[in-house]
Amino acid sequence: MEFAGSHILSVHQFERTDVERIFAVADRMGPYARRRRVTRVLDGAILGSMFFEPSTRTRVSFGSAFNLLGGEVRETTGFENSAIAKGESLYDTARVLSGYSDVIAMRHPVAGSVAEFAAASRVPVINGGDGSNEHPSQALLDLYTIKSELAGRGRGIDRLRIAMVGDLRFGRTVHSLSKLLCLFERVQVTLVSPGELRMPGEIVEEMRRAGIEVIESDALEASISHVDIVYSTRIQEERFGTQAEADLYRGRYRLNQSIYTHHCEPNTVIMHPLPRDSRDHARELDDDLNDNPNLAIFRQTDNGMLVRMALFALTLDVVEQVDKHARDVNWYTAGRF
Ligand code: CP
Repeated sequence: MEFAGSHILSVHQFERTDVERIFAVADRMGPYARRRRVTRVLDGAILGSMFFEPSTRTRVSFGSAFNLLGGEVRETTGFENSAIAKGESLYDTARVLSGYSDVIAMRHPVAGSVAEFAAASRVPVINGGDGSNEHPSQALLDLYTIKSELAGRGRGIDRLRIAMVGDLRFGRTVHSLSKLLCLFERVQVTLVSPGELRMPGEIVEEMRRAGIEVIESDALEASISHVDIVYSTRIQEERFGTQAEADLYRGRYRLNQSIYTHHCEPNTVIMHPLPRDSRDHARELDDDLNDNPNLAIFRQTDNGMLVRMALFALTLDVVEQVDKHARDVNWYTAGRF
């Protein structure tokens, strides 16, 4: 695909070569994300950051990624701080805010809303999550993490064996990741969820059509015994009608060190898009895994910086200029990832 000036709305936009291009650019962002070098390549550029749902990682890392490239960030968080609360349409909001920004990152609770906004925007829009539909930058950073974790074992993404666990019905990260895996060869995906929270049938069919071996189960221990990656997810309580309904499923699947030791292969990588729900009645990924070297959740969040910097560099067409506007840092930098 042509990245310059393009919206990033769905992983369906990508061919395998596009994903490889994003990962190659992400690799080049390492010295900047790790604070070894500083670049001002986006000096003067403005990111419009519009998050109409709660977010820690996506909102802050999109903003920090833009800052690390030398640009500035203008944030709108929550409908209550936007004229949308006064009845303004997404069309008008997009027409206005795209006049104030060079690129926009947006999260919205309604599936399809970011695409609707992008259709009226005069600048590229990156989907930071639209309802239970998609979260393309998360899927890219997840896949980048999978690639990095397996590379140390002399493996690539082809022939991946992954178990996705939890709320597969509403979890947009697993929707996007499943679609992205369709670009790779001989992948095996085990879907572990309560019957009511199964992966949408059209995504399962899409994976099967792409040649992925898909296994569906409601049993955790038996499903994680022969996989490279266990990808745990939170019950998406914000998508349920009531908390009582979400409570029916919270805590159903809990991965802890004991279960890992007894059921997983020794080097199985543990991933989660975060936030994990650390309340006692949930704990889908227990704190007692924190010292497990195969827990990759914070490598995922670090990798998010690289991938989001790459998306900005590509959509604003500055990849080849990043290093020309760079210098070494002149402050103490602690050992980062
Ligand atoms: N993974 C993710 O989307 O996290 P946030 O909701 O904190 O952005």
